Amino acid sequence: MTMQHDLVSVESLSAADVMNLIHLAHAFKAGASLTPVRPTYAMNLFFENSTRTHTSFEMAEKRLGMQVLSFDAGHSSVTKGESLLDTLKTIQAIGVDIAVVRHPENGFYQAVLDAQLTMGLANAGDGSGQHPSQSLLDMMTIYEEFGRFEGLTVGIVGDLAHSRVARSNMMLLTRLGARVIFGGPAAWYPADFATYGPHVEIDALVAQVDVMMLLRVQHERLTAETETTFEAGNYHNDYGLTCERAARLNPNAIIMHPAPVNRGVEMASELVECAQSRIFPQMTNGMYMRMAILTEMLLAQGLMNPTDVEALR
Ligand code: CP
Repeated sequence: MTMQHDLVSVESLSAADVMNLIHLAHAFKAGASLTPVRPTYAMNLFFENSTRTHTSFEMAEKRLGMQVLSFDAGHSSVTKGESLLDTLKTIQAIGVDIAVVRHPENGFYQAVLDAQLTMGLANAGDGSGQHPSQSLLDMMTIYEEFGRFEGLTVGIVGDLAHSRVARSNMMLLTRLGARVIFGGPAAWYPADFATYGPHVEIDALVAQVDVMMLLRVQHERLTAETETTFEAGNYHNDYGLTCERAARLNPNAIIMHPAPVNRGVEMASELVECAQSRIFPQMTNGMYMRMAILTEMLLAQGLMNPTDVEALR
């Protein structure tokens, strides 16, 4: 396995790497436990809001026996002009082993990688760039359901233009052998997505998919003009998973969403917890997948026993 001093993008992951992480995450879910070879320290630096990613990384760190140091971006020296890189060098100097960072700037991690820190870096979401831990928990959830990726069709529908989840997932799904098709407003279908799959109308898409993956409309990233003209009811009717469209899904198809969900916009509120929905199981899997990611990162620093990790993969 090539894993993984840092995890900043799914582009560095082979299909075998993904399957190893899924097996490790499933082992944790089945009750396995691992602890590092010495006391280890994590810090989660979130420069954008988060509930799921932040909480599940912290839970994963604690379940691996790591000490978690608090960080509040609004009260940090970033407010005095300190750069992210200098902030990370500072916490490394103080003794942090792994930094988990969410940041609004696409590719914020490149300067950090170039600096070759000894501390590990996990990208918890960069702008509209990458969200590798979300993508890996999504792969875990799909694999748990179907036991394969080959032959599956995954529809990714919604605010594609702003979605780091869509970018990471289209890369991993196609690498693992699944077919991807996209839906939502055509104006929100970025040109580079065409390499990974076609854009189709939502009514044609629902009849084809094994996985219906909805994306949140990211109001915080819309232009002022788009936000002014956006109308939630129209969006739901034109592009959303309505109850009527959900009734036309294959009975074995599952519904996914990285959340938070705009209920009644990208999907009908009553579908969030319907029998085909895996939205809350995704969140549960996220904690186990983040345990797996952190384990591989600690292993790469010599902070996990290789024999113990290999036994769980
Ligand atoms: N899915 C996701 O990244 O959720 P949060 O923004 O709450 O972390």
